[in-house]
This record gives sequence, structure tokens and C-alpha cells, in this order.
Amino acid sequence: MAFIDINSLKKTYGPFEVLKGIDLQINKHQVVCLIGASGSGKSTLLRCINSLEVIDSGTVSIGGDIVSGPGVDVNALRRRVGMVFQSFNLFPHMTVLENITFAPRVLLKEPKAAVDDRAMRLLERVKLDHRARYYPDQLSGGQQQRVAIVRAIAMQPEALLLDEITSALDPELVAEVLDIIRELAAEGMTMILATHEMQFAREVANLVVFLEQGRLLEQGPPAEIFAAPKEERTRAFLKQIIDAKRI
Ligand SMILES: Nc1ncnc2c1ncn2[C@@H]1O[C@H](COP(=O)(O)OP(=O)(O)O)[C@@H](O)[C@H]1O
Ligand SMILES: [Mg+2]
Repeated sequence: MAFIDINSLKKTYGPFEVLKGIDLQINKHQVVCLIGASGSGKSTLLRCINSLEVIDSGTVSIGGDIVSGPGVDVNALRRRVGMVFQSFNLFPHMTVLENITFAPRVLLKEPKAAVDDRAMRLLERVKLDHRARYYPDQLSGGQQQRVAIVRAIAMQPEALLLDEITSALDPELVAEVLDIIRELAAEGMTMILATHEMQFAREVANLVVFLEQGRLLEQGPPAEIFAAPKEERTRAFLKQIIDAKRI
């Protein structure tokens, strides 16, 4: 059985059906890249997986537990599944260290010394230990995003959801964030990324999923999706992205 199992997931905003019945199975240690035009439903799908949105029908299960629908313990779910956003969403009034240690202390009730120690080791790994006492607005976008990733993994989640985490960054800062994701992938972290970084998707993903207007149109290994997509609309989308990058 798949680790993350999404079944017939539908999501509407008012009269507008944003996700029209998504079926997607993801195994442990898989790295899945969601691709598709802006508005195709990538963010909504990620948000539905960790209950930032209430779904209309279908189910999401993780490790065999249904984690969607009424009665779901969202705090328990979010301890298991971390999320990182395009806009970092760090707490502006907390230092880097406080941002990282807040949830482990409050939600996991871990002792301060142990959490601080883990946070510092993670900061060292992303070469930001010397910024532990800084506030988010004293950091570059790339540094803030590295802190946001560390904040998510400090909870020791079973999976990470990453929503266009490099889209708000200056081009020269993208690589430092993608390097961390590459390392997490190598360590076996289960990840679902919405991304426009096709080169990166090609390199780190085991599975590429193409969404179009709320439907999962095509999925497969990157070599297949990028080199020989079955669907004409996948081909058109990829061509558009490649052409845009050339400009
Ligand atoms: N809170 C919301 N209320 C109404 N419509 C929304 C909301 N969030 C997203 N949408 C719409 O749902 C569609 C999918 O959006 P989104 O999941 O953000 O797509 P993507 O991340 O692929 O760009 C878009 O048409 C968007 O306008
Ligand atoms: Mg989005």
C-alpha cells in the first residue's frame, strides 16, 4: 500500500471545482514533482494533503491512516507532514533559532536544550548557524527559505510538501535552496514539490505529475514525461516552459 494515498480527491471553491477527482499514490522515499500551468491546482492539492483546505470528497491517507474529512486531528497530521511555502512564512518577531524551535517545543513538548541542539545542527548543515540570532528580515530570501526548510525538518516529519519554494527567489539564490532539497532526497525524505524548475525536477524526481485544470492528466518517471510525454497538452506545456526560459 502506498505511503501517501490520494483517492478521488475533489475540492471546490464556491461553484468552481478546482480539483476534479485526483488519484495519486506515493511511496516512502519518493520525490514527486507536481508540474502544470499556474491555476492548475498544484497548491490546492498540497494544501488539501495536510488539511490546510477542507476537501469536498475523496480521501487522503498517510501510512494507512485517513487524514482527511471531519474529525481529523490536524495538529497530529501536521506533525507528520511538514510544509514549506513560496513566501517562507517565517514568524517575523522571532529569531531564526526561535522560528525553528517553537513548534518542537510547543507541539512535541521537547526540552529546550535538546531542540536548540538539533536546530543548531540543522542550521550548520545549511550553513546558517552564524545567523541563529538574526531575525528573518535580516536575511536574504535564499537564507530565509533555508531556515523555513530547517523549521519544517526540525519537526522530524515523515514527508515534506514544498510549494514553489524557489519562485520568490532571485535566480542566484535558487541553487542554494535546491541543494538542500537534493540532499534531503538523497537521505530518503518523502517529498512532494510543486515546481517550475524543470531541470531540477528531471534530476531529483522519481515521479513527475502533470496537472491540468484540476485533473491529473499524466504521470510517470521524469525521463518519460520530459522526453516522451503521452499527452499532447503535457508536450505543449513543457514546450511553453522551455520557450519562456529562452527569452
Ligand atoms: N481560496 C481560494 N478561493 C477561490 N479560488 C481559489 C482559491 N485558491 C485557489 N483558487 C483557484 O483555484 C485554482 C487553482 O489554484 P492553485 O491551486 O493555486 O493553482 P496552482 O498552484 O497550480 O497555480 C485557480 O483557478 C485559483 O484561482
Ligand atoms: Mg501554486
